[in-house]
Amino acid sequence: MITLTVGLGERSYDIVCGRGLLSNAGDIVAPLGRAGRKVFVLTDSDVAPLWLGKTVASLRAAGLDVSSGTLPAGEKTKRFDSLMAVYSMFADAGLTRSDLVVTLGGGVIGDLGGFAAATYLRGLDFVQIPTTLLAQVDSAVGGKVAVDLPWGKNLAGAFWQPRAVVVDPDVLDTLPDDYFSDGMAEVIKYGCIRDRDLFARLDEAGSREGLRVHIEEIVMRCCDIKRVVVERDERDTGERMLLNFGHTYGHALEKYYNYEKISHGAAVAVGMRTICSIAERKGLTAKGCADKITALCNKYGLSCRDDAPYDEVVGAIASDKKNLNGALNVVLLRDVGDGYVYPTDGGFWL
Ligand code: GLY
Repeated sequence: MITLTVGLGERSYDIVCGRGLLSNAGDIVAPLGRAGRKVFVLTDSDVAPLWLGKTVASLRAAGLDVSSGTLPAGEKTKRFDSLMAVYSMFADAGLTRSDLVVTLGGGVIGDLGGFAAATYLRGLDFVQIPTTLLAQVDSAVGGKVAVDLPWGKNLAGAFWQPRAVVVDPDVLDTLPDDYFSDGMAEVIKYGCIRDRDLFARLDEAGSREGLRVHIEEIVMRCCDIKRVVVERDERDTGERMLLNFGHTYGHALEKYYNYEKISHGAAVAVGMRTICSIAERKGLTAKGCADKITALCNKYGLSCRDDAPYDEVVGAIASDKKNLNGALNVVLLRDVGDGYVYPTDGGFWL
């Protein structure tokens, strides 16, 4: 078992990772509050048949009073409209301010359940149990919770740190290949921005199968990179932007396709290649980075290619919420393993 502590003063918490840890989730959750505390587990219709029973059994065995609710699986569940269903589940379960929410699922459940926890009764404690690779290495760590509004993704949100993150790599065994690839884009991103050894290890492992025996360490290496960044810039006013390497073009591509044709990870992979190619031409990134990233992404089922018209995708970047007063910071690599934030005036993409 590997434990990392995210050091945020009184909001510090542990990320605990170990194979089979789901069966011991109760031992991690129970000490976080008083005995007999109510716990509400929020999950989705894909995850419930696989992991809800085991999770609830472990929480009950630790003496907790557990109830649960299941939402339809899929991105649409992250809409603001779903919140009422979640609040109504919390009310039916009789949750009070001293009770706790557990989010068992991928990024949709973690973000939505975390936002509901942040806002119900002015804030309930919550614990993230991420069940996708993407959620384990990214969305479950760092306290960003949000729902989508009709005008855009993640527009209503909060910084609300979990009390713990419980990571069981065994749950990844049932993850379909395309979901695994989706998470690998973020894993590769961490290698790109902060860790050339990680990048090299991923290259050496060469495939999902090759990575299997190392997955626990790889997931925790990613969490540790994110931990350091979040500790320095919890509120995303500077260094945390590094985590958005490949995401500016990637988000614009997702938006171009109305969040339907391309997955987040596939779009980020295209974004990482695109921004490196541009920066190489401008002499801001070492030559050959875009090719190295593309070759690694290809090994993990990410093509880094897309046919969307470049000019139209770049047009959408202007409306990205991370633009401040017309200026746009982008994340570049000096070389693999060495990311930096580069301020532009918007002309960068032309
Ligand atoms: N997923 C980017 C962040 O947590 O800041």
